[in-house]
Amino acid sequence: MSDTLTNDSTAKIILDSTEIELPVIEGSENEKGIDVSRLRSQTGYITVDEGFVNTGSTSSAITYLDGEKGILRYRGYPIEDLAQRCDFVEVCYLLIHGELPTEQELDGFRASIRRHTMLHEDMRDFYKGFPRDAHPMAILSSVVGALSTFYQDSLNPSDPEQVEISIHRLLAKLPTIAAYSYKKSSGQPLVYPDNDLKYCENFLRMMFAVPSEPYHIDPDFVTALNMLLIVHADHEQNCSTSTVRMVGSANANLFASISAGICALWGPLHGGANEACVNMLNKIIADDGNVEKYVAMAKDKTNNFRLMGFGHRVYKNFDPRATIIKGMCDRLLEKMQIDDPLFDVAKRLEEVALNDDYFVSRKLYPNVDFYSGVIYRAIGIPVQMFTVLFAIGRLPGWIAHWAEMHQSPSKKICRPRQIYTGECVREFVPLENRS
Ligand code: ACO
Repeated sequence: MSDTLTNDSTAKIILDSTEIELPVIEGSENEKGIDVSRLRSQTGYITVDEGFVNTGSTSSAITYLDGEKGILRYRGYPIEDLAQRCDFVEVCYLLIHGELPTEQELDGFRASIRRHTMLHEDMRDFYKGFPRDAHPMAILSSVVGALSTFYQDSLNPSDPEQVEISIHRLLAKLPTIAAYSYKKSSGQPLVYPDNDLKYCENFLRMMFAVPSEPYHIDPDFVTALNMLLIVHADHEQNCSTSTVRMVGSANANLFASISAGICALWGPLHGGANEACVNMLNKIIADDGNVEKYVAMAKDKTNNFRLMGFGHRVYKNFDPRATIIKGMCDRLLEKMQIDDPLFDVAKRLEEVALNDDYFVSRKLYPNVDFYSGVIYRAIGIPVQMFTVLFAIGRLPGWIAHWAEMHQSPSKKICRPRQIYTGECVREFVPLENRS
């Protein structure tokens, strides 16, 4: 847990006519929380909050977001500034180290990451064993987990040098692991990384180059990719980051913790929504662009259908990431002179939904996943790879949270409690007496 400001005020709670005082803690942006960590030892009661809707699992100094005002800042810097003025590796450094790097620090960081982009040759052989149609998120989590079998000398979470080399290896190798999973699905040869190239250039080349012809790296794609990775880079205690912290809290190594985070991100209610969103938009196009029909389906409580890319647990006004991405969609498609029916349907869907009382009253707005697919498509990234791109973007955030937790003097294994609702004690019935 990072530093919290102590607040002189306390919260009072009366249980079984006994009054208990609970400390109130306050963050640097005046967010307040009631510290219930000693409630059970004092009273025998626990708090219950299914889905952690109202529960802070930790305090953290990495990312601040205000869902009502649509604010997102990494280490105090607004996402709009970072997306416009940094490249992704600079943002990785900021998230992990807490400060923007000097030129010298950035050069050293980049150089170290470049040195580690290749995969062990034996690891390349894994790809032969996966089915051709394997989902790339499944490959990603498996291969990241398998890194712990190749680097057994650097798995100790308490050794800063081992942690640093593992961080650099992960940042360097994830794009290679990701690009290989795509090459596997397309049947093309795996392309080795080129360490003369920068992070996004290298990834695009590994994705799209083939040995038989030259590959031109489009600078507009590089700009768009850098921006997308930056806006995905952290989002405080979301489902996958909480998973990384949860697994890491048991002192599992960094590779194992990140592999678990990738699995959590895959879910369609989380990072998998970008793939689900494009599939939904394609379905609407195939259905004569009948946007109204899908809005009606999403409102129908007898139907499980939801508008993918809409709604967010925290943002109840607008998602600042969606605004940045939509702006990039406009610029990129215009520059490339692409008329993408998907973008048109997305914009119409947004307009219809935002003027509908169902969505307005529930504060449902487009989230980060609503427009990102349009850019991925323009770059040529296949739909199944969308969540993989999200994972590459989110990696520095996961790492920063994992490291922050390990550096905290108050670190504990994460172990929630429950209210048991099953049978009370019963007498055992031997098999022959059961009816
Ligand atoms: N379409 C239609 N109705 C919706 C949608 C949606 N996309 N999202 C929420 N609602 C409705 C719910 O049915 C519910 O209505 P009710 O009050 O009448 O019961 C109300 O809005 C509140 O929804 P909850 O599910 O309680 O909100 P929660 O905060 O738990 O869920 C979530 C947030 C999971 C993101 C949800 O909005 C959703 O399923 N969205 C679609 C999937 C998606 O885009 N996920 C990506 C999120 S961003 C990310 O993880 C990177």
